[in-house]
Amino acid sequence: DEATLQEQFDATIAADRRIEPRDWMPEGYRKTLVRQVAQHAHSEIIGMQPEGDWLLAAPSLRRKAVLLAKVQDEAGHGLYLYSAAETLGADRADLTDKLIEGRQKYSSIFNYPTPAYADVGVIGWLVDGAAICNQVPLCRSSYGPYARAMIRVCKEESFHQRQGYELLMTMMRGTDEQRAMVQDAVDRWWWPSLMMFGPPDDESPNTAQSMAWGIKRHTNDELRQRFVDMTVPQAQALGVTLPDPDLAWDESSGHWRFGAIDWAEFARVLAGDGPKNAERIARRRAARDDNAWVVEAATAYARKHERGAA
Ligand code: 3HC
Repeated sequence: DEATLQEQFDATIAADRRIEPRDWMPEGYRKTLVRQVAQHAHSEIIGMQPEGDWLLAAPSLRRKAVLLAKVQDEAGHGLYLYSAAETLGADRADLTDKLIEGRQKYSSIFNYPTPAYADVGVIGWLVDGAAICNQVPLCRSSYGPYARAMIRVCKEESFHQRQGYELLMTMMRGTDEQRAMVQDAVDRWWWPSLMMFGPPDDESPNTAQSMAWGIKRHTNDELRQRFVDMTVPQAQALGVTLPDPDLAWDESSGHWRFGAIDWAEFARVLAGDGPKNAERIARRRAARDDNAWVVEAATAYARKHERGAA
């Protein structure tokens, strides 16, 4: 009966073991996983746009090949995560409709413009760096398919972060103009990268329950702090300054203290009023609608083929 099933579920979570698709799970557990995994997938797919705009303008064949590999990886991460969401009973076409209609979210970070090529390096360094801080713990998420998807994703994210950092190191050893371009990109991407980790813990409606269910392993503020502590020394090694006058090492806690985040900006971007929200969604809508005929043809073929096989 349900009470026994709930006990078995609780015992699995308490023992840090994994819940698999065929296991019984509370409806709330399923719902919050579909919410998080679908929005994670949406983030990967939308995330192809900002740096994808530089594919035709990359300064060398090598940089173009590296960027192409990274953008293709993001697409793959999205498809991986939609498949994980499907093991929970979600339908990926329905999830895409929800994204386009604004009924599901994607990461705020992808609503900012990429006006300069240095943005490609800063996105790899900061945005993929933040994603690594957030995704490594998710490799231990209590839902099996999600955790296993993260293991593959994290291997590719470390390549994304390293290629970005190497690109910036090369530019910082270049001309004054290149150094200025990198510093300008850092100034524009630093605070939005901190917002990627979500609202402060005391304003996060999902964290407590997600921690109790072992979906999340750390809170938003813990991972944000881990990212700042990891990134400040890297900024020093690069020779860029981070746009936070309150940034200071706190010997007693062993952490870098940082200034106040503009949560009003975060709320605006989540409400759809960021610099590039409309463009990102318009392009995703066009991709769905312009390619609908391909989906129809492939589906019809698959149905005929299955009938033939049967
Ligand atoms: N952008 C957009 N929405 C955000 C957000 C952000 N940066 N941070 C939080 N939110 C939303 C949440 O989704 C939630 O709304 P919802 O209930 O409608 O889903 C609301 O704000 C409150 O936030 P909570 O902290 O209560 O929500 P969560 O417990 O879900 O925590 C999260 C938010 C930390 C983003 C968590 O969902 C998570 O870890 N998700 C998986 C990782 C992920 O999505 N990363 C996206 C980064 S981009 C990326 O990884 C691509 C890489 O290749 C660059």
